[in-house]
Formats: sequence, C-alpha cells, structure tokens
Amino acid sequence: MRIVQLSDPHIEAPERQPVLGRNTITQLQDAVHAVNTLSPVPDFVILTGDQTNEGAHDSFEQVKQVLGRLQMTCHLVLGNHDARTPFRRIMLGEDTPSSDRYYYTVKQNGYRFIILDTLDEGKVTGLMDKSQLDWLEAELAEEEELFTVICMHHPPISVGVDWMDALILQEPERLLRIFDASPCLKLVLCGHVHHPFQIPHNELTILTAPAISVQFRKAPLPPPAEKPHALFTDAPPAFRIVDLSPEGWETTLHHLSS
Ligand SMILES: [Fe+2]
Ligand SMILES: [Fe+2]
Repeated sequence: MRIVQLSDPHIEAPERQPVLGRNTITQLQDAVHAVNTLSPVPDFVILTGDQTNEGAHDSFEQVKQVLGRLQMTCHLVLGNHDARTPFRRIMLGEDTPSSDRYYYTVKQNGYRFIILDTLDEGKVTGLMDKSQLDWLEAELAEEEELFTVICMHHPPISVGVDWMDALILQEPERLLRIFDASPCLKLVLCGHVHHPFQIPHNELTILTAPAISVQFRKAPLPPPAEKPHALFTDAPPAFRIVDLSPEGWETTLHHLSS
C-alpha cells in the first residue's frame, strides 16, 4: 500500500499571493500533478495540516479547488494556521459548522490510519484534549494487532532543533504513554516543522514532512537576516511517499522543481 503525505501548503486566496515569497497555489497544483503521475499510484493522500496560511474561508475554497484535481482520496489534518469552523464549512460542507475537533479512523487494505487534531486555536504550539486522548486509547485497544499509522500536525517529541522544539505538541506525556502501550503503532506522520526528520521512538518511528510552501532551516541565518526569512531555505517544495507492507514500511521524498 502506498500513501503520499503532503504538508504545510499554507494556501491563501489568489489576491493574497505570494505567501512568504512563494505562490503557494501554484506549488500545491504542481504537487497534485506530481502525485497524480506517480507510479505506483498512491492509494490515498494525507495532508498533514497548515492547509491554509490564516484559516480564511476563501483560502479553504482555494485548497478545495486544487485538491479536487487529485485522482485519489485526500484525508485532511488540521494545523495551527487553520481554523476549525471555516474548515468544517468549506472542506467538510457542513451548513452549520461546529467547532468540534476533527479526528477519525480509516481502515484500508489491512492497515489502520488515525487522523488526530492537535490545533490549539490562537497558538502556534499544539495541544490535545482529554476526550480525544480517551478516544484514541480506546481506538488503539480495539484491534491490538492492526498495523497502525497516526497522522497529526504537531510532532509529539523533540525533533532535535531548539527553535522548532519550542513550537511542537505541548503536554505530550499521556499521548506518549498511549503510543508506548500500542505495539501495533508503527509510524506517526507529522507536519509543522517544514523539514523531513526521521525520529525513532521506542518501537515506532516519527516522520516529519518537508513543506509544499517553504522549507525551514535548522539553524536560522544570523543577523542582518531577519525573521521570518532568516528561517527559510531556497529549497523547492517536496512531499513524502510511504510504502507499507506487512513486513514494515519504506519512505522516500519527492522534490518538485523550483
Ligand atoms: Fe506550516
Ligand atoms: Fe504548523
């Protein structure tokens, strides 16, 4: 089974482009085209958050329009740059959108994928609520043998870069205890840090994805460079491909030309 992880496209409506010096609509369009022409074709795509740059309704409309060209299902994760109510109205088509957290399970081809919601509205860092953690614990215990992949925006553990680690999931202790009690959990796919990391954690591996918008530097440029540009590289957009088999998983990165 093959899945593609797109992350952090940071879309704004056309009149507010470019974003951080990039036309993020064009970059997401290029990613969608590249995904559609992969061989083998992915079974589905997971977009691990920061779908939009500021959570605006018209930005989500743009995301929906571009992702509509994907030839396979796309599962959606919320990031800190998103907003639940516009997301639910535009992306989920809810007439009276709630502000409820958005998390669910997909079972496909003998694998289980769990989409989590770490958005803590108004904050860059992530946070999970008790009811979602209760749900996750029960969900994982339900089928203890099923090869499981979790998809979430904020990394739940250190990526080893101080400025990024200040912005990851807060209060992760209970989540990590749930992970450690779930040997069926093999992979956790995260976004947020705009950089590909591969971090072993006990029996599982946490993978982060490069961004469809701009790539972050591990070491910000010294002055006179200023934020936010001191944090970016000129590297082209990229996405992650993950191939799953009963024996395990393999991953590669696919870089788009700049
Ligand atoms: Fe992001
Ligand atoms: Fe983020």
